Amino acid sequence: MLSAVTLPTMAIRVTIVPGDGIGPEVIGAARRAIEATGVRIEWDRREVGAGAFARTGEPLPSATLDSIRANRVALKGPVETPPASGVRSLNLALRRTLDLYANVRPCRLYGGVPSLYDAVDVLVVRENTEGMYTGIELEMGTRAVEELIGFIAATTGAVVPSDSGISVKEITEHGSERIARFAFGYARANGRAKVTASHKANIMKFSDGLFLEVVRRVAQEYPEIDFEDRIIDALCMQLVQAPERFDVLVLPNMYGDLVAELCAGMIGGAAVAPGGHFGGSDGRDLAVFEATHGTVPRLAGVNRANPVGATLSGAMMLRHLGETVAADTLETAVAEVLRDGNDVTPDLRAPDDDRPTVGTAEMTDAVIARL
Ligand code: IPM
Ligand code: MG
Repeated sequence: MLSAVTLPTMAIRVTIVPGDGIGPEVIGAARRAIEATGVRIEWDRREVGAGAFARTGEPLPSATLDSIRANRVALKGPVETPPASGVRSLNLALRRTLDLYANVRPCRLYGGVPSLYDAVDVLVVRENTEGMYTGIELEMGTRAVEELIGFIAATTGAVVPSDSGISVKEITEHGSERIARFAFGYARANGRAKVTASHKANIMKFSDGLFLEVVRRVAQEYPEIDFEDRIIDALCMQLVQAPERFDVLVLPNMYGDLVAELCAGMIGGAAVAPGGHFGGSDGRDLAVFEATHGTVPRLAGVNRANPVGATLSGAMMLRHLGETVAADTLETAVAEVLRDGNDVTPDLRAPDDDRPTVGTAEMTDAVIARL
């Protein structure tokens, strides 16, 4: 209740994109939980995805991009890229258009979640705009491939087989520098002790090698944070064997994609893994929060989807907005519901546990009851 001296706080405007498949249900759940923390948010509902395409002919409407640019924060559900839209991936298009260069995927194992591990707390920082994801590709048998093969032969002497399909990987100095700064800055701001960079610099000297060189240089500006590097294959093995050895990981785009999913597999699956994409001058100007999972069409509309990834993404969003108490309270409430294990969706039930399960809405009610 407002006392006479309390000024009502301004509502924070946030773009909300329900998305496709299970998106509307999990984003609806996250929204209810966020509202129940008491933080006042004015939701600006926008569309991206197959639903948007069917209704408007635009899979990534400019009104949605404008809304995110204006509000600077969005909570987004998974989206489906309709093949007829001619876009390769709407997720990638959104991240590139807004230059959301840093993807943060915290992988923390909460008590009560079935997993092969006892303790995992790894934060994946993935470069989100370059590397293997340029989308620049030359198709086998085309004139462009033939010309490129000729150019490569002339400049390096290397012989590329004529029946090659070619994808371009690109790593820049400035791209490596900003993701490295973001990772160390995030580690510093969140009290993390160590950053591990991963790469295949022994094979790709001028792309991964450049990334490693730049991250090493940036590491020197953060003397209180330990720094190490691992070749990506060794990192995967060591993560699986001993995840407790790792804290913050910083990786080029595709390695980050793979390792984030690997780490999600250690904490109960993609459904419980939250995430945020950050951009702007220091990675604080623009942020889109979304879980790691996809649209899971077979679970759409039947109140079975796990709301944890989306809800924890909502907690990350609250933290980003400076609502630290609400963020902590929401994360703790989710952790308690998971630990208690009575009100969880079917995917969170270990095979030997025959307690009944609940739906998306009921699990969210249980989270709200603990706030
Ligand atoms: C992810 C997804 C996307 C990616 C796909 C859907 C293009 O796997 O968000 O991790 O590769 O980045
Ligand atoms: Mg992925």
